[in-house]
Amino acid sequence: MIVLTGATGNIAGKIASILLAQGEMVRCIARTADKMKDLAAQGAEIAAIQLENTAALDRAFFGADAVFIMIPPYYTAPDFRAYQNVIGASLSEAIKQSGVRHIVNLSSQGAQLPESTGPIKGLHDQEGRLNGLKGVSILHLRPAYFMENLLANVELIKNMNIMGSAVRGDLKLPMIATTDIAKHAAERLCKRDFSGISVQDLLGQRDISMNEIAAILSEKLGKPGLKYVQFSYAATELALAGMGFSADVSRLLVEMSKAINEGIIMNTPRTKKNTTETPFEEFAEIFAGLLAK
Ligand SMILES: NC(=O)c1ccc[n+]([C@@H]2O[C@H](COP(=O)([O-])OP(=O)(O)OC[C@H]3O[C@@H](n4cnc5c(N)ncnc54)[C@H](OP(=O)(O)O)[C@@H]3O)[C@@H](O)[C@H]2O)c1
Repeated sequence: MIVLTGATGNIAGKIASILLAQGEMVRCIARTADKMKDLAAQGAEIAAIQLENTAALDRAFFGADAVFIMIPPYYTAPDFRAYQNVIGASLSEAIKQSGVRHIVNLSSQGAQLPESTGPIKGLHDQEGRLNGLKGVSILHLRPAYFMENLLANVELIKNMNIMGSAVRGDLKLPMIATTDIAKHAAERLCKRDFSGISVQDLLGQRDISMNEIAAILSEKLGKPGLKYVQFSYAATELALAGMGFSADVSRLLVEMSKAINEGIIMNTPRTKKNTTETPFEEFAEIFAGLLAK
């Protein structure tokens, strides 16, 4: 039995489908059973629980051969670091109580650093918390910037023919499609070929800049003149708050963009082992589908 947290999300939802197609027994965790109907129809066992509920998590983890864990985003959190600590501690305690022996932990590029990385600092702390567990083999997955983040630009593209963020337009970054993360996680959850504490960087198919992305999308979407615009840190923080993100989360996301621009994070040397398959050109098809709606 493999247990997945965040099962209705970008990554664990895809892991579930891969594992179920292979005939694995899968238990899916998210907050509402209704949103997991499709997973149940594919054969998954469903556990509708809050990650904050350690006793329920302990029961859901019990008997698992491996568990995939993550700290989900919570964009309106008044104190995001406090929220990350509550979820992180609950996951860690449930692993301890349930006696599960193999954990695949969704972390991030930059989680090796103790500060100045925005929300990634919470993942640094979570890696440390998990590394303190006795007798548990832990694989920390450290993916790069998700291509899915770029989907937040759909309305800007539709209405103003621009895309933008606080990240420098000319900076080549490792970017990954979540499907590549899911494939890697599914394989490792099944093989359980890790022991002690290990780290796997996942950097996507190649480094690519926001300017290059805008050029690819311009052609793919048939939108001549589509350009990437770098917004100032102050304007980005205001815009995020205007979109409903809490002041704390807005500040942290800008801190992360700054760390990217300054080369503090997203700078792991690329190797065959940390390179994955999906090129941005393939991911761009998803944009085309969304813009057509
Ligand atoms: N974005 C990036 O560039 C990036 C880069 C590296 C690492 N990461 C990491 O990746 C994570 C996001 O992964 P993702 O995109 O797969 O997430 P996602 O699509 O936002 O999914 C979040 C999942 O968590 C569930 N969830 C939310 N709050 C919950 C709670 N309190 N209790 C139980 N379940 C809860 C949601 O289900 P329901 O809503 O149905 O309950 C959903 O299944 C980030 O938080 C970060 O740690 C992100």
